[in-house]
This record gives sequence, structure tokens and C-alpha cells, in this order.
Amino acid sequence: MTDDFVPAHPDQPGLDPAVDAGEHGDAILSLRDVSKVYQSGDSEVRAVSGATMAVEQEEFVSLLGPSGSGKTTLISMIGGLLSPTSGQILVGGTDVGALSSRELTRFRAERVGFVFQSANLVPFLTARENLLYVSTLQKRVSRKEAQKRADQLLSELGLADRAKNLPEQLSGGERQRVAIGRALMNDPDLILVDEPTAALDTQLGRQVVELLAREVKQRGKTGIMVTHDLRMVQYTDRVFEILDGHLTHVEQPSALQH
Ligand SMILES: Nc1ncnc2c1ncn2[C@@H]1O[C@H](COP(=O)(O)OP(=O)(O)OP(=O)(O)O)[C@@H](O)[C@H]1O
Ligand SMILES: [Mg+2]
Repeated sequence: MTDDFVPAHPDQPGLDPAVDAGEHGDAILSLRDVSKVYQSGDSEVRAVSGATMAVEQEEFVSLLGPSGSGKTTLISMIGGLLSPTSGQILVGGTDVGALSSRELTRFRAERVGFVFQSANLVPFLTARENLLYVSTLQKRVSRKEAQKRADQLLSELGLADRAKNLPEQLSGGERQRVAIGRALMNDPDLILVDEPTAALDTQLGRQVVELLAREVKQRGKTGIMVTHDLRMVQYTDRVFEILDGHLTHVEQPSALQH
């Protein structure tokens, strides 16, 4: 099933090496002039307009913006769930827009950990099985290793005693934490989280964001966290703001007033 996957590599077609060496040096993630226009009926919605950003390995950045400003659209494009209308997205040298649908599936399964705004757990699997399910999809590690990792994550997320519960037997915040554990299960290069703390109280929210920050720093990942919560911004290295689809880097996060 995976034999025909061709990883992007300068020697292989599909990636222009000149692009890879671009202005952002060793940025693991780089966006150039990325836009997304949704067609709905006769009208068009320009959800993201000319977004350019670069994020490096071991960087954890936050993405702030009001409802409808394009946050979910932007991280969905970065995670290969949505194709940009124009512009280019490079993840570790892979031009995400140039991947075939089969390659995209593999890219998402192996390199991206996505935590959606709604937890989106498999309803008939327990919390622990929701984590283990990820590793059955990609079979990179043994069952035993996967179980060890799942149990470790569940414990770090304060869910050890909820491991056998089905999603319907969990609170909203617990479901969200299971979704975070699931996103970290496959050891992704890129962690994309959409409002991880919305359903959590402050104490738990901090713990979850600290865990994400630790994961990024200790395991050499790159993380983007969408948040409305300015208290969580302090756990990130840099802040981007998006307003009406226009992305900007916030030079002085301390100046943010909400
Ligand atoms: N599938 C779609 N078709 C048409 N318009 C869409 C679609 N998805 C999103 N939009 C529009 O694109 C804009 C950006 O939406 P997006 O979901 O990215 O915002 P957001 O910043 O994540 O908002 P929130 O904080 O409420 O989650 C909004 O105006 C939204 O209505
Ligand atoms: Mg959203």
C-alpha cells in the first residue's frame, strides 16, 4: 500500500531544491503567500489572504484571532487537510500542495498530529483504544511499544483512570485531552492544535499546554496552537495574529491587550 509513496527529496521530481533553500534557512515549516478562497454558492469567502510565515524545529507558536478570522482554515492547509487556492506550503522540504492524494494521506498519518476544535474521537473505542488506533494505521512501532506510549500519554494527560471509558463517558475537557494524546501518538514532526484549552479550566489548560510545549522542545517538534486565551500565549515562543484572513507576526506579545 505504501510502496509507491515517494518522499519529497531534492533528487526527485516534485520538489524544486531552489525553493527549499529559501529565505527562511532551516525553517521546518514555511508558507509563502498562501490564500484560501471558499466558494459558497455564488459568493466567495476569502478566508486566508497571502499568508507568509516560517516556523523552525523546536518552535511552539501561537495563532490568535477572532472567530471567523481564518485560523482553522490556515492550520488545516498546513496539515494537508485542505488545499490552498494559491501559494506554497513547505513542511520539512515537502511541498504539501504537490502531493498526490495518496501521499497526502501518508503525510497526515506520519508527520502531522492534529487536534481539532471538536475532539472527533471514534465513539465506539475507549480512550486508550482511540490512541492505539493511530498506531494500527501506520504500523511503525510494535503493539507493545504503542501500548507503552499510549499509557504514558494518558497518564501525563491525567487520564490514567479514564483509559477504559468511551468518549460518551468522558467530559468535554477529558475528550479534548484524549484527542491531544492521539495527536502525539504517532510522534509527528508537526503538531497543530485548534483551541486546546477552550473546554478546560485554567489549571488543566495550563497543564495541557505545558505538555504540548514540552513535547515540542524535548522531542524536536514544531507546534502551532490556535488559542483565544492570552494566558496560554506565555507558553509559546512567538505569536502570530490573524485578522480577516491577514496573518501578521506579533513583535511584542506583551503589548497584546484583550
Ligand atoms: N467550508 C467553507 N465554506 C465557505 N466558507 C467557509 C468554510 N469554512 C470556513 N468558511 C469561512 O471562512 C472564514 C474563516 O473560517 P475559519 O473556520 O478558518 O475561522 P476561525 O478563525 O477558525 O474561526 P473560529 O474561531 O470561530 O473557529 C469564515 O468567514 C468562515 O465562515
Ligand atoms: Mg476555528
